[in-house]
Amino acid sequence: MSNHDQVYLSQAEAYESMISRQPDLSEIVRQIRPYKNLDVLDLGAGSGRLASFLAPEVKTLICTDASQPMLDILDRKLTEQNFVRNWITLEADHRSLPVPDSSVDLVVSGWSICYLASSNHQEWDSNLDKILSELERILKPDGTIIIFETMGTGTETPDPPEFLTSYYSLLEQKYGFQHRWVRADYKFASVEEAIEHTEFFFGEELAERIKNNRWSTLPECAGVWWKE
Ligand SMILES: C[S@@+](CC[C@H](N)C(=O)[O-])C[C@H]1O[C@@H](n2cnc3c(N)ncnc32)[C@H](O)[C@@H]1O
Repeated sequence: MSNHDQVYLSQAEAYESMISRQPDLSEIVRQIRPYKNLDVLDLGAGSGRLASFLAPEVKTLICTDASQPMLDILDRKLTEQNFVRNWITLEADHRSLPVPDSSVDLVVSGWSICYLASSNHQEWDSNLDKILSELERILKPDGTIIIFETMGTGTETPDPPEFLTSYYSLLEQKYGFQHRWVRADYKFASVEEAIEHTEFFFGEELAERIKNNRWSTLPECAGVWWKE
């Protein structure tokens, strides 16, 4: 089990507190596929970064994730938003989704497929194939997939981790996704707060760079891939 798997099981609140400092991504999703009244799957929904802006507008929302503690935060956040319950949460692995065939208009997935498609994973390319086959199975004929992944933390221009570049290449070259990137910087009140909220996830080396650069805003680049 990787370090991050442990975070998603036992430090879900700390993850939520960290990513709540990043910008809202609703307009990026809306530009690719206006989502009002659609049936949507949030794959690897975590603590609900994407689900929080989707749920108030979509028809139905299925949120899957391997971590129940992350989904519990999502459920609490959406319940606090106080609108009619149109979402469900399901503990599920990306490679086998408990979702009917041809039932979803839009799949969104933020920073999650990478855990199975990283080239550090021995079966990364067959994992990716399984995940995308599952998504094709559950999508309606005019469905859309939108994937967000990291293009680098602590960098102002894209500099993706080496272990993700093969995955990103396959998305574009084999599976026909389009691609752009955006800044998704973390904004903190101080350098000390930036370190306090990110070191548990990104480690000591990044904490050192935050200190040396006096970053209260930690630069982050996000890749967006979509397919219609
Ligand atoms: C970096 S978080 C992203 C969460 C959320 N999408 C967001 O944008 O903040 C990654 C999430 O993917 C989930 N995850 C990792 N591997 C998974 C798998 N094989 N199947 C389902 N969920 C997985 C983790 O439990 C975690 O909640």
